[in-house]
Amino acid sequence: MDVAAVTRQNRVYWEAIAAGRLGEPVEFFRAGGCALSDDELAATGDPAGLRVLHLACSIGDECLSFAQLGAVRVVGVDISPTHLATGRAKAETLGVDVDLREGDLTALDPELTGFDLIFISGGGICWVPDLDAWSRTVAERLAAGGRVVISEHHPLWEVLTVAGPNQLTVTGDYLDPTRRGYSDSAKAPQVTLGMTDPLPPHTSFVWSLGQVVTALLGAGLIIRALREVAQPELYQGLGPAAGALPAAYLLVAERPAAS
Ligand SMILES: C[S@@+](CC[C@H](N)C(=O)[O-])C[C@H]1O[C@@H](n2cnc3c(N)ncnc32)[C@H](O)[C@@H]1O
Repeated sequence: MDVAAVTRQNRVYWEAIAAGRLGEPVEFFRAGGCALSDDELAATGDPAGLRVLHLACSIGDECLSFAQLGAVRVVGVDISPTHLATGRAKAETLGVDVDLREGDLTALDPELTGFDLIFISGGGICWVPDLDAWSRTVAERLAAGGRVVISEHHPLWEVLTVAGPNQLTVTGDYLDPTRRGYSDSAKAPQVTLGMTDPLPPHTSFVWSLGQVVTALLGAGLIIRALREVAQPELYQGLGPAAGALPAAYLLVAERPAAS
């Protein structure tokens, strides 16, 4: 696979839809709102004093929250200049110091290193074409004892489609990560719902839990926690069983202190 070509194509896709993704308004942050969920904060621990790198940071909402919670350095990397411009405008209005920079999460600037926390969430890891290479990069960019927190859609949810009450169909391949477009529109970025014009082609990757764990272990990281959680609203129409399936997961892995 030509990783650079995949990423170039995906950038065109994201730029086609980015203008409609605004995230939380500045009033939300002014009023003390936090873009990180309670589950995410439980996984990251208190960000105060940490050097944080958020990969695929999009419009930077979580970066703003990390900074407001006292992180000493917050860098967000995203491939979409439009998303970053939205985030920078919010940061400027709020007077919050975050470094939102254009970049590819598979080819990070060499100076982006020594982080206590690397964070990726909510449809970020699916843009990684080579999970082993990415995991090695993450491990290299963590300070000794630093942690990566992955807060993601569950890969099982990614391949299941609600067909009716208590009925699911398999619309993806759990074992083959490469996904061209979306066969279930509920898995596409929410902003695309209702868009009628054809969108640029794009390729994402549904990484299974086994593939994620194996790649992180292979990069020398220690898995500290892996929690699967229900989000019944993501299985809308399924009925009561919607709460009986995982829809998301949170994984914490650590770079050994001596490495
Ligand atoms: C669904 S968002 C996830 C981020 C955030 N949780 C959110 O919901 O806004 C996916 C983000 O990944 C970015 N992205 C896609 N491919 C990327 C790459 N190779 N490097 C960095 N960012 C990338 C897109 O521009 C987009 O902002």
